[in-house]
Amino acid sequence: MKVVSTVKELKALLDSYRSEGKSIALVPTMGALHAGHASLVERAVRENDVAVVSIFVNPTQFNDKNDLKNYPRTLEADCALLERVGASIAFAPSVEEMYPSEDTRQFSFEPLDTVMEGACRPGHFNGVAQIVSKLFYAVEPDVAYFGEKDFQQLAIIREMVRQLALPVEIAGCPIVREKDGLAMSSRNTLLSAEERERALAISRTLFSSLDYAKEHSLAETKAFVEECIDNTAGLDLEYFQIVDGNSLQEIKEWGDSSYVVGCIALFCGKIRLIDNIKYKED
Ligand code: PAF
Repeated sequence: MKVVSTVKELKALLDSYRSEGKSIALVPTMGALHAGHASLVERAVRENDVAVVSIFVNPTQFNDKNDLKNYPRTLEADCALLERVGASIAFAPSVEEMYPSEDTRQFSFEPLDTVMEGACRPGHFNGVAQIVSKLFYAVEPDVAYFGEKDFQQLAIIREMVRQLALPVEIAGCPIVREKDGLAMSSRNTLLSAEERERALAISRTLFSSLDYAKEHSLAETKAFVEECIDNTAGLDLEYFQIVDGNSLQEIKEWGDSSYVVGCIALFCGKIRLIDNIKYKED
């Protein structure tokens, strides 16, 4: 595996692969890689000739300076994992490399970006679009892989690709969970043992709500999830919304959509976690 840190080097390498007719995949990450990332990279390796994995903690998508400062950075371990799963290139640029000057682009993905994460983290999706579009311009991948844990991000990236008419296929990959159900996240490493235990209530509640939903209305199911989380010490619910999986807008009845997803965000101590569950998929 080659580790490169400049766009120039990356483009030269990819041009040579492209001239041999090789297909190129991109897995964008912020590093601190775990088994969830590994599953994305394994799929990218399986389905393409060349798998590029970017490792870049993107400052423009953090609306909280402390969150950016505390975000785990583990480049050496990340490269060892990528080598193991067969990635061809790790692209680990500096902030100056990706932002040689301020990126003043303003995206609008309304109404996708005005709800949930968009409402709670102003500017977050603009920053995601800035960096992901830069990565797409640098790599020009045939296909890019994103996890469904960031369900809203995936919808917004699809919309960005549509708006910019970029020739890249977006592949969404299922959430990977720890054996006990906790959705894998780089932020899990920041949880204390006690917080880690408390965080289990998230997936437990979401899975219980699947059964609960069979016998109850959407409003009752929403209240059930909210109550379970509110009754767990140490968890501070930010939102739980049951939305149409395409428009991301809240729905009122199960019959309002054939693609229904419950999205949750909460604080476990100081650590913000998100997760989601599909109630219906068309
Ligand atoms: O999902 C992430 O890790 C980030 O938002 C992404 C897509 C790598 C952009 O920085």
